[in-house]
Amino acid sequence: MKTLQRTLTIVKPDAVRRHAIGDIIEQFEKNGFNILCMKMLEISKHQAEQFYAVHASRPFFNSLTDFMSSGPIVALALEKENAVADLRKLMGATNPANAEEGTIRKKWATSIENNAIHGSDAEDTARFELSFFFAGYELAQ
Ligand code: RTP
Ligand code: MG
Repeated sequence: MKTLQRTLTIVKPDAVRRHAIGDIIEQFEKNGFNILCMKMLEISKHQAEQFYAVHASRPFFNSLTDFMSSGPIVALALEKENAVADLRKLMGATNPANAEEGTIRKKWATSIENNAIHGSDAEDTARFELSFFFAGYELAQ
């Protein structure tokens, strides 16, 4: 039986500044993702630190959380079969120098940090990240 899976994606501040929201959302729809819920917002430095807590000990943590709180972002809850892995494939590699042709990061990322899009990296991460941005009633379908 085919089972639907949900994942959390974010159009990052660099991509919003470059007017890439529409193009990136079009990629989600063209690639079979159903948009369950979507919101544009700004997060504080503290909220970015909570969201990326898994990276707290990494050297890029301070810079990453400054970046993620530097302007508006768009958070989306996406659904399809194999959504977590398929979104990671559509995003491309973290460093755009390694991103494959046809991926969102190949087109829009300008550096390893300013890389246009976030996607949950596993099913349990997706659960945490979806609940970070969306309440249960918003995802009830
Ligand atoms: P994301 O979590 O945003 O979807 O990205 P990812 O899984 O591809 O990469 P991850 O290792 O989780 O890193 C999270 C974000 O931190 C920034 N980063 N900067 N300066 C650096 O070496 C460096 N490494 C990572 C990127 O914005 C990356 O997406
Ligand atoms: Mg990650």
